[in-house]
Amino acid sequence: MKKIGVLTSGGDAPGMNAAIRAVVRKAIYHDVEVFGVRYGFQGLMDGNINQMALGTVGDIIQRGGTVLSTARSSEFKTDEGQQKAIEQMKKRGIEGLVVIGGDGSFQGAKKLTEKGFPCIGVPGTIDNDIPGTDFTIGFDTSLNTILEAIDKIRDTATSHERTYIIEVMGRDAGDLALWAGLSGGAESIIIPEEKESIDDVIYRLKRGQERGKKHSIIILAEGVGSGFEFGKMIEERSQLDTRVTVLGYIQRGGSPTAQDRVLASRMGAKAVELLIEGKAGRMVGMENNQLVDYDINEILSKKHQINMDMYKLSKELAI
Ligand code: F6P
Repeated sequence: MKKIGVLTSGGDAPGMNAAIRAVVRKAIYHDVEVFGVRYGFQGLMDGNINQMALGTVGDIIQRGGTVLSTARSSEFKTDEGQQKAIEQMKKRGIEGLVVIGGDGSFQGAKKLTEKGFPCIGVPGTIDNDIPGTDFTIGFDTSLNTILEAIDKIRDTATSHERTYIIEVMGRDAGDLALWAGLSGGAESIIIPEEKESIDDVIYRLKRGQERGKKHSIIILAEGVGSGFEFGKMIEERSQLDTRVTVLGYIQRGGSPTAQDRVLASRMGAKAVELLIEGKAGRMVGMENNQLVDYDINEILSKKHQINMDMYKLSKELAI
């Protein structure tokens, strides 16, 4: 393999730039030319493709977002769109593609591989909702952003003796909520995988109050529903003074943590190795600090599992 492409697709995640840098540097190290595709699969179909030299990825390891930009494309879901994308690559002599993104992006990688164009997936999403890897690129940075917000909100929650609900991202997964809740010492963590009745939440809040707790923090995963509606229900049924914060897109930005930079560098480099070895339709993962790779079809057919031991522990510690 002498020429490969790289793109980022779906929601951006801190650390994607470190992954792009690793792909470019590792490929050039092995005398393989690299082409950066702008705007994900849409850019691939449009031919928004440029060769990347070593210098093009200088000074980006510390930056959030993605220098290649990202997009979601409905046209790419069609056979014609996929064929168009392959033609754009063939025209330039590109023989393999690294796709950095979440499960939607891996669907695209799967389709191109099925049409004979080798793709390797690198999991980049703050949601940590991809099977076959302990962590996805961006999760740790996002988690730390949330934690910083929780600590700040706790200061004002203590001063005013209120109940605070903090809605966090994660799409259908509760990982961000669970890890943020456990590390932030939340009284309750509400996740889609393990719904708790509102009465139970209120019972636990009241029990805390009875033993002298002056404030409470509830972390709600967006996959469960709206933080504002949840807050209204708590206030109506418990008469507790309640405030709601929806953290929003702040969770997707910022300089990646060391953890995310290392993860992204290792995964990006591994993706290039797999392409050079002639592999196709694989996803790179990290399990127990060891790089692994799995068939992308297998990954897409599985459902991400939450760590239930952590969930149980968070309840025990919030007693
Ligand atoms: O997948 C990452 C994510 O930030 C989710 O947590 C969130 O639900 C979604 O993307 C938001 O997507 P959009 O950028 O399309 O609003």
